[in-house]
Amino acid sequence: MSVLDRFNLYVGDNLPSLSPFRGIYLIPGLYNEETLKDLEHFDVLDDDLFIITYPKSGTNWMQVVMRLVYADGDHKCLEDVVSWEATPWLDIDKDKVEQLPRPRIITSHLPHRLMPRGLQEGSAKVIYVARNPKDVIVSFYHFQKNSRFLENPNDFQSFLQMFIDGKVLMGSWFEHIQGWMDCKHPHLLYVTYEDMVKDLRSVVRRICTFLGKTLTEVQIESVVKHSSFTAMKKNPMTNYSKAEKLFEEATKFFRKGKVGDWKNHFTVAQSEWFDAVYQERMAGLGLDFTWDLPAEKPSS
Ligand code: A3P
Repeated sequence: MSVLDRFNLYVGDNLPSLSPFRGIYLIPGLYNEETLKDLEHFDVLDDDLFIITYPKSGTNWMQVVMRLVYADGDHKCLEDVVSWEATPWLDIDKDKVEQLPRPRIITSHLPHRLMPRGLQEGSAKVIYVARNPKDVIVSFYHFQKNSRFLENPNDFQSFLQMFIDGKVLMGSWFEHIQGWMDCKHPHLLYVTYEDMVKDLRSVVRRICTFLGKTLTEVQIESVVKHSSFTAMKKNPMTNYSKAEKLFEEATKFFRKGKVGDWKNHFTVAQSEWFDAVYQERMAGLGLDFTWDLPAEKPSS
């Protein structure tokens, strides 16, 4: 059964509540505990590339960027395979990952401690995409409201509390980023969503250097063009229209794609509360997020 068919079983009246598994929260049934336990022994290949993210941090964007980079910017690679099949999630679709041609692009939201042991050895590479957590929270809140496989959050305040407590899908953002930063993976490239918004060309150049790949300026330009918010929202292979049963409105997956939208959702008190938690939980990690960008000037 395809991963989409499996998700389709869990929508509407069959909506399950999240349940804890080894310190994170997952959708029971959809995520198979035995498979997750077996991942420890998953065979990592030397030319594998792992895209690792906490949900709502720019996963789908990086998936498309990487497909284009591997195709030397040729947008035909986005014409007939949907993202979740071209760059499948190890967490829920191990079989698909094992059928991929090499070099494989593998996606995962899992914390480092639940990843295959083989990832720490050999020369497989990891791109970790992080996003400022206030925008992650807002994006997650809207995603959960729109999705038909997750319970509707009551209101923003209670969702914020659940996020801080790590009681959302995939557990704690703080633990996710901490675990991946602490793992000292020998081939890990840290990228932020905000850097991608500010200057995707530079991020693509960094990725090419990391992979030892040479793309011409024209090819880089093509990567940027075909992975833009507008292009991805329009393309049926990337915009989730093929998974319409899973959402109230599938293309709302591409909501705003902005930095700083949290300011339209957080009250001053909520922002100060989150800042205090952030200071305490992130102390010593040395990460510096961009929380806002100047508004774009309207084109004349
Ligand atoms: P918003 O809800 O803030 O709009 P993920 O893929 O990890 O689930 O992340 C989804 C977030 O990434 C959404 O954020 C979505 O709009 C944004 N996103 C997806 N593709 C994008 C792109 N090409 N450019 C900018 N943002 C993008």
